[in-house]
Amino acid sequence: MYGNTAKAARCLAEELTRLGIANSIHDLCRENISDALRDVFKYDTIAIGSPTYNGGIFPPAETFMRAIAARSVKGRKFCAFGSYSWAATSVRQLAEQAQDMGFELIEMPEDIAGRQPGGISFPHAYSPEKCSMHAMAEAIKGKLA
Ligand SMILES: Cc1cc2nc3c(=O)[nH]c(=O)nc-3n(C[C@H](O)[C@H](O)[C@H](O)COP(=O)(O)O)c2cc1C
Repeated sequence: MYGNTAKAARCLAEELTRLGIANSIHDLCRENISDALRDVFKYDTIAIGSPTYNGGIFPPAETFMRAIAARSVKGRKFCAFGSYSWAATSVRQLAEQAQDMGFELIEMPEDIAGRQPGGISFPHAYSPEKCSMHAMAEAIKGKLA
């Protein structure tokens, strides 16, 4: 909606690249969904950003999750992140959907701000203090075989 979650996504991609982890970033609001779906089959980890929207997941991210479920994708590791204003729900709901698909949640360190099962929620504008994409990238790295 306003670019805070997108900013976090770009920071995560930068942190992953800095750690030497191959990655690909997609804007679900602007790209054809098939571009991102192609990469779901290429990589073993999915990190989705979605702001909280009407008590739930922002529609483009929800559509993407449904598209993954419809293809019976198995064996992925998963984490989520997103901005909210008054009550964070998108990350929790994304994590629940990922678990329903049998994906393994990547847990964040216990002491970081905004920690939720399988991800990080942050209020309003993105900042590394409110949403450590460095920590998320390290957690992803820790799960690599
Ligand atoms: C139509 C609409 C619905 C929203 N619904 C919620 C909500 O249910 N809970 C909440 O905490 N924030 C809600 N927000 C606020 C956004 O989550 C918040 O502005 C967030 O920072 C937007 O993230 P973004 O910059 O990544 O788009 C809503 C915003 C809009 C425009």
